[in-house]
Amino acid sequence: MVKAAVLYETKSPLVVEELELDDPKAGEVLVKIGAAGICRSDRHFMHGDAPIGLPVVLGHEGAGTIEKVGPGVTSVRPGQQVILTFVASCGRCKSCLTGASNLCDTHAAAGSFMFDGTTRLHKGDTRILHFGKTACFAEYSVMPEAAVVPIDTPIGMDIAALIGCCVPTGVGAVTTSAQVTPGSTVAVIGCGGVGLNVIMGAALVNAGKIIAVDIRESQLEFAMKFGATHTVNASDQDPVARVRELTGGKGADFTFEVFGSADTTKAAYDMAGKRSTVTIVGIAPWGAEAGINAVDIVRNEKTMRGTYYGSTPARVEMPKLVDMYLAGKLNLDDLVVRQYSLDDINVAYDDMDKGEVGRGVIMF
Ligand code: APR
Ligand code: ZN
Repeated sequence: MVKAAVLYETKSPLVVEELELDDPKAGEVLVKIGAAGICRSDRHFMHGDAPIGLPVVLGHEGAGTIEKVGPGVTSVRPGQQVILTFVASCGRCKSCLTGASNLCDTHAAAGSFMFDGTTRLHKGDTRILHFGKTACFAEYSVMPEAAVVPIDTPIGMDIAALIGCCVPTGVGAVTTSAQVTPGSTVAVIGCGGVGLNVIMGAALVNAGKIIAVDIRESQLEFAMKFGATHTVNASDQDPVARVRELTGGKGADFTFEVFGSADTTKAAYDMAGKRSTVTIVGIAPWGAEAGINAVDIVRNEKTMRGTYYGSTPARVEMPKLVDMYLAGKLNLDDLVVRQYSLDDINVAYDDMDKGEVGRGVIMF
């Protein structure tokens, strides 16, 4: 039996209870979870903003230790520290073979089930789904071998968990997707766990002005710690007009939407200048549409692009991010500001909704 937080119904709290967890099958591993991040992506499912099969154990930003391996597993052994990746890429589909393993077709087709179409989590006769195949809002979790990335130098579990989602998503949006150039002007809408990593990424590649946009003053002050050079409070000023003003009327060279809504997507587009790149990181509610000016995109040669999970292969990117953290180039220590026990997971999500700064992490 393992203790886990289960989503039975949308718009209702997670239920922390004991579930049965089967042994890992061929090609799977059992991970003792060390830490799990409180990320807005899980919140979207709890709110019913995105469809998901129920009941499900959420949790996709995590790290832990290999406890046991199933038959045929060769890349990890018990006792190793691993970062979880919520896209267990198969290495054989078109996406994987064309450099987009973060969009693996096989992983997507299997959804919240293991690759054989079954689950390892049960409660009596009820099968419980594994979100992202990682399901790390639980003391232990079984997942495909492809869902774990081993790391050589042990680091804090909380930091490792963040390197499982918000760090590669935010930093990768800047370095791999948008390819921000030194000296360019950058605007970041939404300065939560992911947005702060976009800001850190922009600082890392020596962007010039880094303009943080949020609706909460506390988030904006916090963003200055991670490299923001200017702040715009969108609750009392028009963020598009203000960013244009801060960029001498030109608009920013690179803009990032890191909240997830149609309005902020449109704002990210509107505040971008000529030959700019508009990058959408946040996941808006299912079905959302954001109108953009069809003439402006041509006459100003704007590029608009979505990025998922940093547009990078986890197995290549995560060890690099660990090295950058160890070299003092990513201030992840200041990012984790609150630690909770699994029993308090609903409190942790309420704190996120209240707009507490930085990232909350469940520690096991
Ligand atoms: N304008 C600017 N900022 C806003 C607005 C707005 N209209 N509305 C909310 N925000 C800010 C919040 O105040 C918060 O600081 O956006 C930030 C969102 O941060 P978190 O709640 O910590 O979310 P995070 O985990 O960073 O995820 C952001 O990225 O990966 C996706 O699914 C994820 O869509 C989500 C997004
Ligand atoms: Zn996430």
